[in-house]
Amino acid sequence: MKITITINGERHEADVEPRLLLVHLIRETLGLTGTHIGCDTTHCGACTVIVDGRPVKSCTVFAVQADGKSITTVEGLEQDGKLHPLQESFMAEHGLQCGYCTPGMLMTGVAFLKKNPSPSEADIRWAISGNLCRCTGYVNIVKAYQSAAAKMREVAR
Ligand code: FES
Ligand code: FES
Repeated sequence: MKITITINGERHEADVEPRLLLVHLIRETLGLTGTHIGCDTTHCGACTVIVDGRPVKSCTVFAVQADGKSITTVEGLEQDGKLHPLQESFMAEHGLQCGYCTPGMLMTGVAFLKKNPSPSEADIRWAISGNLCRCTGYVNIVKAYQSAAAKMREVAR
């Protein structure tokens, strides 16, 4: 089937099998390997991308379901050589260790902070409940979300 999707602002056309998962289109067809595969069964969130503003586990969606949609992957967060505030906060707050979960954590966070610019700790923990991290214990990830939220509120003033 022929599909057209916009990824990180760039339009792509592809001829795909109906069974192809979105994560495989992103990683293998388009070469955007920042999106990770952890479980392939909708549990870990490593494959999270933003589809039309909503965080989506791309191992759970067929590429054909993304036809006509606009997708942001972790590669699309940096703008004009500047990291997204959440990326900066992950660095500053040590929100990662091995980094495997990080692209998914970032994409969930970017979509979440847009919807909820002043989240409580409980809100953040709920937001990341679909993203598993085997290294950090989540404390610094929560701090990174909090610090990015504060920075983004400051800029929006
Ligand atoms: S690889 Fe998609 S949720 Fe784990
Ligand atoms: S930093 Fe290793 S899985 Fe999260």
